[in-house]
Amino acid sequence: MNQHTILFNLDSDPALARKLTEQLDIELGQLNSRQFPDRETYLRVDSDCQDKTALILCNLFDPDPKIMPLLFLAETLRDLGVTKIALITPYLCYMRQDKRFQPGECVNAIPFAKLISNYFDFLITIDPHLHRITSLDQVYRIPTRVVAAAPLIAEWLKSQDQSVLLIGPDSESEQWVSEVSRLSGAPFVVLEKTRRGDRDVDVSLPQVERWQGYRPVLLDDIISSGRTMLSTLSKLAGQGLGQPICIGVHGIFADDAYRELSEQAEVITTNCIPHPSNQIEIASALAEPLRVWLQADPEA
Ligand code: R5P
Repeated sequence: MNQHTILFNLDSDPALARKLTEQLDIELGQLNSRQFPDRETYLRVDSDCQDKTALILCNLFDPDPKIMPLLFLAETLRDLGVTKIALITPYLCYMRQDKRFQPGECVNAIPFAKLISNYFDFLITIDPHLHRITSLDQVYRIPTRVVAAAPLIAEWLKSQDQSVLLIGPDSESEQWVSEVSRLSGAPFVVLEKTRRGDRDVDVSLPQVERWQGYRPVLLDDIISSGRTMLSTLSKLAGQGLGQPICIGVHGIFADDAYRELSEQAEVITTNCIPHPSNQIEIASALAEPLRVWLQADPEA
């Protein structure tokens, strides 16, 4: 076992924490955490951390209640002698508000990146929403590593052994759809999306006549309210394609989104966010670059 590295799970994804500790052959750190009656956070580290490198798994979907415990843990680990800290968050939050759309708006991605850069030495995540910010280096001051889900999705699609047409619901999705197409050999089309509000979305009519009988696979990085996928499904109805599949890298499924989508399509996600729709495994894809980062430091 690598005695110099310890992983703390600050999120409720014990399965992913266990897979990472097994694959990296490192110790799982012991934490005692709870809320005081006033809902402030109590945190105690019960593992020896002196001179170790710490990995913190804290998956930042539904982020706000997780931020204070995360910063407290990072600060406490430094106090206890940890030399370097990496943050593992399969879903990187606050990337979608990447521009001031209305006067006076907070461009969330920027202050959030500043905050995280103050506490961590390395950040690893899976397919963050890179759109108007095209690289994490533009906002994060620490080294970052982006793991791509496209190879995992392409493998899953190939294992289904069906004729599929990949559909990207908006221009941002082209980066994922084109890569999955390249790796799987499936054709793709990309639609135009107009967003008028959080839950008010319209997509252009897909040109799919030449793909009659193919199964449409709608692919997006995030499924949040589900409106992007639902609008796309409505445009596909009656176009002569097979039963749709919706694939999301990050299945957030706000409110009733999962139920509404499941009524019309098979819904598949990676296990970036734990959910019954998870069918595409990410642990090894995260473990490999973490191993490289740890090996770059002889003390880790
Ligand atoms: C943003 O453009 C993303 O790529 C997704 O299309 C978006 O987050 C999906 O959100 P919703 O499910 O709320 O339509």
